[in-house]
Amino acid sequence: MKQQILVIYKSVTGFTEQYARWIAKELDCQAMDLREVSAKTMAGYQLVIFGGRIHAGVVDGLKQVKKLFEKSTAGKLVVFATGATPNTAGEMIEETWKNNFTPAELEHIPHFYLQSGCGMKKCRWVIN
Ligand SMILES: Cc1cc2nc3c(=O)[nH]c(=O)nc-3n(C[C@H](O)[C@H](O)[C@H](O)COP(=O)(O)O)c2cc1C
Repeated sequence: MKQQILVIYKSVTGFTEQYARWIAKELDCQAMDLREVSAKTMAGYQLVIFGGRIHAGVVDGLKQVKKLFEKSTAGKLVVFATGATPNTAGEMIEETWKNNFTPAELEHIPHFYLQSGCGMKKCRWVIN
């Protein structure tokens, strides 16, 4: 029998992982790093929640997750993204979603944005 919910995250400086762990705690389910997840892992769940950081407009890991999800027989995919963009910048956030989802995906995949920050110390190597 399928388990109910799996939270997956891709995180470099820790913000997305923290959100994923909070969500998993609230939902009383497991949070896993995307690196540990296969289509076979996903197949065991009715609902998969994926969280990725926004990196230069791209939701990091989303392409990979969409492919894994298609291969798996998991029931439903929900996506959240974290970024330094303020929550109030609605148009900018909508634009990001449009660049990361097809029109059909925009309609069928529930998605939401969570503001984070920029962990300059940890991500210095990313900027250089
Ligand atoms: C090189 C770089 C590019 C970024 N691009 C964006 C962006 O396009 N939009 C945004 O909202 N945040 C952007 N950010 C901020 C990150 O998305 C934010 O710090 C994110 O929550 C980091 O997630 P993590 O701690 O899970 O790795 C960028 C950060 C860096 C270092």
